[in-house]
Amino acid sequence: MSPFLLTRTLPEDATEAALRADVLHGLGHTPKTLPPKWFYDAHGSELFERITELPEYYPTRAEREILLARAGEIAAASGARTLVELGSGSSEKTRHLLDALPDLHTYVPVDVSESALTQAGHTLIAERPELNVHALIADFTGGLTLPGTPGPRLVAFLGGTIGNLLPAERASFLSSVRSLLSPGDTLLLGTDLVKEPSVLVAAYDDAAGVTGEFNKNVLSVVDRELGADFDLDAFEHVALWDAGHEWIEMRLRSRAAQTVKIPALDLAVDFAEGEEMRTEISAKFRAEGVRAELAEASLDLTHWWTDTEGRFALSLSSAV
Ligand code: SAH
Ligand code: AVI
Repeated sequence: MSPFLLTRTLPEDATEAALRADVLHGLGHTPKTLPPKWFYDAHGSELFERITELPEYYPTRAEREILLARAGEIAAASGARTLVELGSGSSEKTRHLLDALPDLHTYVPVDVSESALTQAGHTLIAERPELNVHALIADFTGGLTLPGTPGPRLVAFLGGTIGNLLPAERASFLSSVRSLLSPGDTLLLGTDLVKEPSVLVAAYDDAAGVTGEFNKNVLSVVDRELGADFDLDAFEHVALWDAGHEWIEMRLRSRAAQTVKIPALDLAVDFAEGEEMRTEISAKFRAEGVRAELAEASLDLTHWWTDTEGRFALSLSSAV
């Protein structure tokens, strides 16, 4: 059996402290916001996996199509011996990369979701006894310290998760990723592309209501972790296309005027009827924008691949 190591780089109480700070900050100003990383407790991670199978949610299928078609080229260009994956979740699509990398020594999945990491890790080592899996429970927006495994390193950030960061957060994220790369290392980045708004909105407001359940899960997390009394039925799921910013915005709209108590913060938060709280942005990209943001972080885009319908892109870049 190959080794499976799970390292917690965040102390357990750091998660609660970070949630408190985010809730205090996000609900303390108008418009109210909550950061999307709090969707992903065990239930939220499961809901996300269900989203990836919805007929309206094309990004996962489109990215898988590119990975299947291009894994050989990615392997040849990167020559990776260590694959680091940020926000790895179930690592489901990553299998296509793992299969294609002939010299891979260690896979390092990084995620805030411990349940996703353990589930994915155990499945992977059962299937690939020769692979070392060193999973890290960590926030990819904080300073990451990676294990000292053999290079070259390929850092993968798939699924379009970069779009869940605000532009300023993306810039500092990309420069922190750049600082992890040595000469010869590469970054594989998945970005969802700008397209017809009706297609985009449907992907975030599916007929079966799974995305609505995922959106409201952040309220369950705050209820459980901070003793709050958010009533999930008192909020409505909203997904809209912001054409100016070119991002999808998910919100929760208060169905009535209400006050929510958050005992752990000694806080009572008023919501007006119809008041909307932003829970996620999901930015959509154009090739020139991706190239420019990478260049700003001293990363040189060397390859750009899309699925046959041009919905999603994978890019490979290297440190300059
Ligand atoms: N890469 C997978 C999963 C995408 S879902 C795919 O393409 O299908 C986004 C993943 O990022 C979730 O597993 C979530 O737990 C993780 N995540 C979100 N914010 C994070 C953060 N700040 N640090 C680390 N992981 C994060
Ligand atoms: C993880 N991330 C890329 C997803 C997205 O599409 O922005 C999260 C998600 N939100 C709603 N549906 C899926």
